[in-house]
Amino acid sequence: MIIYQDHLQGITESSVAPGFFDGWPNPPSPAVLIRLLANSTFIILAIDADTKRMIGFINCLSDKVLTAYIPLLEVIPEYQGRGIGKELTARMLERLKGLYMVDLLCDPDVQEFYARLGMKKATGMLMRNYEHQSGAEQ
Ligand SMILES: CC(C)(COP(=O)(O)OP(=O)(O)OC[C@H]1O[C@@H](n2cnc3c(N)ncnc32)[C@H](O)[C@@H]1OP(=O)(O)O)[C@@H](O)C(=O)NCCC(=O)NCCS
Repeated sequence: MIIYQDHLQGITESSVAPGFFDGWPNPPSPAVLIRLLANSTFIILAIDADTKRMIGFINCLSDKVLTAYIPLLEVIPEYQGRGIGKELTARMLERLKGLYMVDLLCDPDVQEFYARLGMKKATGMLMRNYEHQSGAEQ
């Protein structure tokens, strides 16, 4: 069974399942993942109740007045295709429904996933500092 929580209680580096940031050449470590979740405005975590390990998450940065940005949604490959990404996103969108703007950037192949959850296609701009892909210095 998968359980969902909106806090980091009980989550340590050893309870982060391997497999996050699949395909990233220089991925954040479990410690960095926990740090970015701790610094986020809102989070939803998916946890395998049997192994007690986190296997998915979504985070949000928000001014809590008008705007919210969803930087990351991840379900580790072993758990994909079971409705977990959909549940994480639906729960976050429900949490943010009182705000005017809810934005995210994604590759074209994931647009349909978000469209099914009520989001619209948009254009945007970005910058990536690849030398910091594993996380900013503390
Ligand atoms: C994208 C991602 C979060 C989806 O999570 P998931 O748990 O595998 O997705 P779900 O099982 O909840 O899928 C829900 C539905 O969306 C569909 N879906 C999943 N990925 C999709 C995609 N890329 N495009 C279109 N539909 C997709 C599923 O087929 C399913 O359809 P159904 O309800 O008709 O059965 C996951 O593949 C992932 O972590 N990918 C790597 C990181 C990533 O790309 N994150 C998004 C960055 S913005």
